[in-house]
Amino acid sequence: MKHLIAPSILSADFGNLQRDIEMINRSKADWFHIDIMDGNFVPNLSIGFPVLKAIAKHATKPLDIHLMILHPDLYIERFCTEAQASILTVHYEACTHLHRSLQSIKKMNVKTGVSLNPHTPVSVLEDILCETDVVLLMSVNPGFGGQKFIEHTYRKIEKLKAMIMAQQLETRIEIDGGVDLSNYKQLLAAGADVLVCGYSVFSSPNPLQTIEQLAII
Ligand code: DX5
Ligand code: ZN
Repeated sequence: MKHLIAPSILSADFGNLQRDIEMINRSKADWFHIDIMDGNFVPNLSIGFPVLKAIAKHATKPLDIHLMILHPDLYIERFCTEAQASILTVHYEACTHLHRSLQSIKKMNVKTGVSLNPHTPVSVLEDILCETDVVLLMSVNPGFGGQKFIEHTYRKIEKLKAMIMAQQLETRIEIDGGVDLSNYKQLLAAGADVLVCGYSVFSSPNPLQTIEQLAII
């Protein structure tokens, strides 16, 4: 399966959001990665429904919405309808009843994602993997773009890949944080399927070209 590129809107120019969305529409990227932060689960705030609706209006590719929020169950329906998520990811650490949260997402005909913070072992997913379309491994501590990639992530990808194969599943492994042209090949070799790229794309002098380079194996 060819890997996917999901540029993170967090590093876009919010004063020129439509322009940046249209750039991603024209690019070789596959998904829009959209980070939602509540100031509680992570020490930062990002965007809410008014901006999400504006993104959905202009984006022509699937919206991969990453919820870094406590109590995601309260908002699952709205992220699926108003924000038009194609993939909706909740954090393992924020869900007391993760199985129920994933069923709520499935009920909306949206793909399910579960994210793990850097300190959370992949082994906790053993009994929920079969309900999960995407596992998003945080390769930085969540809350901010442009941070340094945590090297231990490679080991987690390998372990998770082995778990997915053992259960004969098609769950995709998505890597989020510090992904750039210097490490993307090693991530793919370890078993990554989806690469989130924020700073490395939007700070580059030619984002279209950077996306194209990240899409080459
Ligand atoms: C961090 C977010 C990431 C972030 C990645 O909490 O989940 O999606 O935008 O940004 P970069 O690629 O700049 O590390
Ligand atoms: Zn993210």
